Amino acid sequence: MTNQTLDVIQARRSIRAYKADKPVNAEQISTLVDAALAAPSANNKQPWLLNVVTNAELLAGFDKAVVETLKTLAPEAYDRIVSRGGTVLYHAPLLILVLIPSDSKPYMDAGILTENIAIAAKAIGLDSVILGLPGMVFQGDKAGEWREKLRIPEGYEYGVSVAAGTAEDGAAGRSYSPDYSKVTYLD
Ligand SMILES: Cc1cc2nc3c(=O)[nH]c(=O)nc-3n(C[C@H](O)[C@H](O)[C@H](O)COP(=O)(O)O)c2cc1C
Repeated sequence: MTNQTLDVIQARRSIRAYKADKPVNAEQISTLVDAALAAPSANNKQPWLLNVVTNAELLAGFDKAVVETLKTLAPEAYDRIVSRGGTVLYHAPLLILVLIPSDSKPYMDAGILTENIAIAAKAIGLDSVILGLPGMVFQGDKAGEWREKLRIPEGYEYGVSVAAGTAEDGAAGRSYSPDYSKVTYLD
């Protein structure tokens, strides 16, 4: 079956190298935010906050702080990241933080919203990668500083984030083939 939406879903891949000097423009950001906010949520609670970060200095500082935190809290992840170029944000010019209430932690709702952003990014010619790892910074000794800098309000925490932008030339995602062994049909 040929369908534009299905094609975009199949074409999305996590991209881990971006052109830092190619910003995501205001119209594109607005499209991503609209796609995010259109997500379904349990009881329509919309239990999220989105912080949209485009400040290059802030992004670079956050990237560095996360990598530093990994060094002490997750040495294996640190080694992997260093071997891949020492960045967790991959120089993306846009990071959308998906914040969730600390008491209820609605990861399901946050995840659905997050995928909407990733699909919308692909639909408008951008690439993206969903990021859990940066959340580690909020377990380290710089947690308070980064909560403040990224304006994470009291009662909320980092759920996940999406980095997006224009892929570096030659940056390709993983090759993919569906694993149908995951599927059971009950006829
Ligand atoms: C909840 C979640 C957290 C993720 N965190 C990271 C991350 O911190 N860093 C990273 O490079 N990729 C991260 N990824 C991307 C996955 O590695 C990627 O989706 C997976 O390898 C499949 O590849 P694909 O997205 O290209 O299909 C994350 C994905 C999800 C869904």
